[in-house]
Amino acid sequence: MSASDRVEFYRHQLGQEEAESWRGVLDTLFLTLGPQVAAFEKELGEYLVRSPSARVGGDGRDEGGPAPLRQPPQVVGTSCCSMGLLVSLRALDVGPGDEVITTPMTFAATSNAVLHLGATPVLVDVEPTTGLIDPRAIEAAIGPKTKGILPVHLYGQLADMRAIRELADRHDLFVVEDSAHGIEMERDGVRPGDLGDAVVFSFYATKNLTSGDGGAVATRRPELADRLRRLRNHGVSKAAADRHGGIYQHWDLVELGYKANLTDLDAALLRPQLPRADQKRDARQRIVERYEKRLREAIGSRVPTTSRRGVPWLVERRGKSSHHLFTIQPPAAIRDEMLVSLGKAGIGTAVNYRAIHTLTYLKERLGLQRGALPIAEEIGDRTISLPLYPTLSESEQDRVVEAVAKAWREGT
Ligand SMILES: Cc1ncc(COP(=O)(O)O)c(C=O)c1O
Repeated sequence: MSASDRVEFYRHQLGQEEAESWRGVLDTLFLTLGPQVAAFEKELGEYLVRSPSARVGGDGRDEGGPAPLRQPPQVVGTSCCSMGLLVSLRALDVGPGDEVITTPMTFAATSNAVLHLGATPVLVDVEPTTGLIDPRAIEAAIGPKTKGILPVHLYGQLADMRAIRELADRHDLFVVEDSAHGIEMERDGVRPGDLGDAVVFSFYATKNLTSGDGGAVATRRPELADRLRRLRNHGVSKAAADRHGGIYQHWDLVELGYKANLTDLDAALLRPQLPRADQKRDARQRIVERYEKRLREAIGSRVPTTSRRGVPWLVERRGKSSHHLFTIQPPAAIRDEMLVSLGKAGIGTAVNYRAIHTLTYLKERLGLQRGALPIAEEIGDRTISLPLYPTLSESEQDRVVEAVAKAWREGT
C-alpha cells in the first residue's frame, strides 16, 4: 500500500494564508514575544466571548440569545499546553504537599504538570457516557490538602463546569481547565474559561488550531495574567519587545520562571485559523454525524461512541463539542486486534486514552491498582479514535467505516 492510499489519522489544513502570514514575520523585527503574539492573544480573547448565538447558529437552537457583553479574558501565549498548565498551576502557588484533583482520562501532560511542582494529582473516576470527570467523584476526593481542580474537556466536550465551579467555591479551591481539545466548545451557555480561574489551550500538531506546537492560557484574573506573563518568560520583569525603542532599560528577575512563551512565528500561523474555527468545527460535526449513521448501518446499533450519543446537552443542542476526536468503543477483548486490522487496512488510529494510572510511571508513582477507577479503565481498554478533520473526504470516511465494520465482525 502506498502512503497516498492511507487514510491518515490527521492532516492539518494550513495553506496559502497561513504561509503568507508566517512569511510576513520574517520581514519584521520581532520573531518572538512581539506584535504577532500580542495580536493573537487579543483575538483569541475576543473569540472566547463572541456571541454564542452567532456561533450556535446553523445546526442548533439558539438557547440563550446574544451573549451578555462580557470582557474578554486576558490571554497569555505559551510554548504548548503542557507548559501552559505548569505555569498556571505555579501561578496559583501549587507546590509540595498540595493535591490537585484531576481525571485519569487524559494525556499524561495534565498530571505531569502537577507532579513537576512537587504536588500530587488525585485521580477520580469519570462519567461513563462522556468520559468527563465526574463532579460527584471530585466532591468525594476533596480533603484538607486539596488546592484545586483540573478538569479536562475531553474530546471537545465541556466538563460540567457549573457543578465544578460550585464545588470549588464551596471549598475555596481554584479551577484550571485543560482545554487542549479545543476553543470552540460550549455547554448550556458556558464556554472554556468562563468559570475557571484559568483555561489552557493546545495548538499541537493534531489539534483543531495548530502551529505545530503552541498553547495559550486565558484568565479573567488580572493579577494571575501578570504572573503568567512573567512565569512564561523566566520570571523577568519585562520582555524584550516591551523594552524596545529609545534608551536601554534594565530588566529584573523577580521570581524563578520558565522559558515557555509562544513565538511570533507560531502566532502568525494561528491568527488566520481563528476566524475559520467555527466553520471547521461544523464541518467536523457533519463528519461525526455521517460516521455515526454509517457505522450504525454497517454494524448495527452496537456502536457506542463518546462523541455525541447519550449526552443530553449535545443531543438536545444545548451546546457544542469542538469535535476534536471521534471515538468508538468496541468490546475490550477485540480493541487491540481492531487496531492491528485497521492499521493493515491503512487507516490511521489513536487511543485517547488508556487511563493514565495504568501507565508504568504513574502506576508506580501514584500506586493506584487496576480497579481503582473502573469507568476510566473500561473506556481506556475499549476506545479507538478514528480520523476526523474537515478535509476527510466522504470516500475516505466510507473506507474507515468499512474497515471498522470488517474488523468488528471478525473480532466478535
Ligand atoms: C488533554 C491534553 N492535555 C494536555 C496536552 C498537552 O498539549 P501540548 O502538546 O500542547 O503540550 C494534550 C496534548 O495532546 C492533551 O490532549
